[in-house]
Amino acid sequence: MLFKNIDQLKKKQKSFLQLKTINSIEDVDALSELLRYHEHKYYIDNDPQISDYEYDQLYKLLEEAETRNPLWTKSDSPTQRVSSDLTNSLQSVEHLSPMLSLDNTYNLEDLIEFDNRIRKICAIPEGNNVEYLVEPKFDGGSLSVVYENNQLVRAATRGDGIKGEEMTLNARTIRSLPLSADFNSLGIYKTELRGEALIRKNVFEEVNKSRETDGLPLLANPRNAATGVLRVKDPNETASRKLDIFIFQWGYAADKNGNNKIPEYKTQSNCTKTLGELGFKVAKLENKVCKNIQEVHKFITTWAEKRDSYPFELDGMVVKLNDLALQEICGYTSHHPRWAVAYKFQAKQASSTLLHVEFQVGKVGSITPVAKIEPVQLAGVTVSSISLHNEDFIRTKDIWLGDTVLVERAGDVIPYIVKSFPEQRKKSAKPIEFPKNCPSCNTSLLREEDNAAWICPNSQCPAQQVQKLIHHVSKDAMDIDGLGSSLIERFYDLGIIKDMSDIYRLDYTKIAQLEGMGEKSADKLRLSIEKAKANPIHRFLHGLCIHHLGKKISKLIAENLDYVPNLQNWTIENYTNIKDVGPVVGQNIIDFFADKSNLKMIQTMESLGVNLHQKTEDKPKQLTMDAIFSGKTILFTGTLSKMGRKEAEQLAEKNGAKVLSAVSGALNILVVGEDAGSKLSKATKLGTVEILKEDEFLEKVGKNDLL
Ligand code: IVH
Repeated sequence: MLFKNIDQLKKKQKSFLQLKTINSIEDVDALSELLRYHEHKYYIDNDPQISDYEYDQLYKLLEEAETRNPLWTKSDSPTQRVSSDLTNSLQSVEHLSPMLSLDNTYNLEDLIEFDNRIRKICAIPEGNNVEYLVEPKFDGGSLSVVYENNQLVRAATRGDGIKGEEMTLNARTIRSLPLSADFNSLGIYKTELRGEALIRKNVFEEVNKSRETDGLPLLANPRNAATGVLRVKDPNETASRKLDIFIFQWGYAADKNGNNKIPEYKTQSNCTKTLGELGFKVAKLENKVCKNIQEVHKFITTWAEKRDSYPFELDGMVVKLNDLALQEICGYTSHHPRWAVAYKFQAKQASSTLLHVEFQVGKVGSITPVAKIEPVQLAGVTVSSISLHNEDFIRTKDIWLGDTVLVERAGDVIPYIVKSFPEQRKKSAKPIEFPKNCPSCNTSLLREEDNAAWICPNSQCPAQQVQKLIHHVSKDAMDIDGLGSSLIERFYDLGIIKDMSDIYRLDYTKIAQLEGMGEKSADKLRLSIEKAKANPIHRFLHGLCIHHLGKKISKLIAENLDYVPNLQNWTIENYTNIKDVGPVVGQNIIDFFADKSNLKMIQTMESLGVNLHQKTEDKPKQLTMDAIFSGKTILFTGTLSKMGRKEAEQLAEKNGAKVLSAVSGALNILVVGEDAGSKLSKATKLGTVEILKEDEFLEKVGKNDLL
């Protein structure tokens, strides 16, 4: 049984939450197990048992004890999911058993044919039922994971099915993949499991939102978002994508003598159940054992209807013969097992024709080309307008006006052009000409070297102004109900609103007289604007439309700010001292506040009653401006003798430094322990890096007790 001593551990949890340190290996083991339990409840059962804050407290307690006593750190400790300085080899490795593909079916007739084939091979008498396990076909990247003596020892991508690429460090970052599981209790010494690494649809949307803010190309769909980070060298990159993994197949399981243990489990559904009991994420709520092929079809139909509301992307269902002995009889072709098929859902892809391209001006001046296509139905939704992102996207995909294009509705909301068909190009097709001038104000467009977007540099550009105003009143910013984009456009055209401050001095008597408005609507609008004036300052900051200043960063800055106009005195270090706030957004804010007209607008808003003060409930945190390493970047190399690496990094952070992972021009300080190697020589070569010995570092941070 998973988490045998959980009741006892839960009792210990209370005392752990009150402790600053733990000092025995027994406590380290108990705490590790407790954290594993909470991870299981959170990532697998979707049923969290403690708050994130309490989890973090327990995690830090464990981390601190392990840093002091590295020998107590086991490889399956919850702290060991991402290692700071190891990278993946991505070497080619052979799977313990081939990772095959699946044959496809699309309708009931195909399924009946599949069932008949199985009945024939297995000589099932007519009238006897054949049982199938039906489960979702997850749309991500397939992985094989190997456990030996209960420990996760290897993970690899599918590759060509025989050999894949080893990416164990990346797989370890997937929180729903246990780093150890008690296979020994089942007499299994070595085993290989198959699963699909996935990203939740809402996480995918978040990733794309933040990529958009950072000016990075958007990811096409959740599948690409998941597979794109499986084969990367740096596990931190994989960790940041917050992947999940469903395990759906037992590929190999043997005892110490190499005897195959899988047949003991008799049915496919029992294998799934057993893997679930061992702590793996399996489709136990999503699957069903069906008595015959008609029931299979019925079950699939219910899933086809609810697939959009499921948190992960599915491209069909998989039908597996439930009896393992019968599976054995059916065997395999070189491509797929004969005992399983995929039933593919209605395509979310369709082809259409690109009619014309509209160039839209965004709130910070980026020009986005938007394709207008012949409307197509994609899994129940009509799509006629699709973002083409930027000029590079158009050129790389070789998209022309009049082309046939393949369209996909990814993540259920964002339609996307997968490809064009240059080989089918008509004579009348024309290349898409990107404008040289802003479609709104005719200013010459600019494109900076490392930016994918063309920009209209005119901050007074009417299209930009309107987009800024629309953003200012939007849900995530000032959240002004009843002031939608069409009303903003109308007020702008009428000259009623020219900049943000005008929103707060509307003449409601005049507005009530506008066609379609009336007194009631005007009064409603007045109430929402009055309410918005009292918003907390993070909403106000976000509403200023400063490039890269999104919702999250606005909150982080607001936590460290008493009064918005104080930002005119902030330096770049004030920004970078805040965890997760980078220099680019910092500089954008500095530039914004250096512009007197912006300051004036903010003052006007304040005089009109808009709140610019931090409220006590948003408790400001202390800035570490006077800390010894304030605004500095630091890196540790070599073996430290007085403290662990993590402890040193925490000390540096506490003293205002930002810890980097590599030597680059951005590095200020390198702390060297014994046997420092290439990092030291690289930093010395750069000539701009301050080199500190471990003792010098300790002295600077006032840790004289360690000297
Ligand atoms: S079983 C020998 N079950 O679909 C059995 N595959 O098109 C082979 N997939 O490579 C796979 N969900 O990556 C199986 N529930 C599921 C699946 C599943 C997704 C993927 C898997 C496989 C591909 C075949």
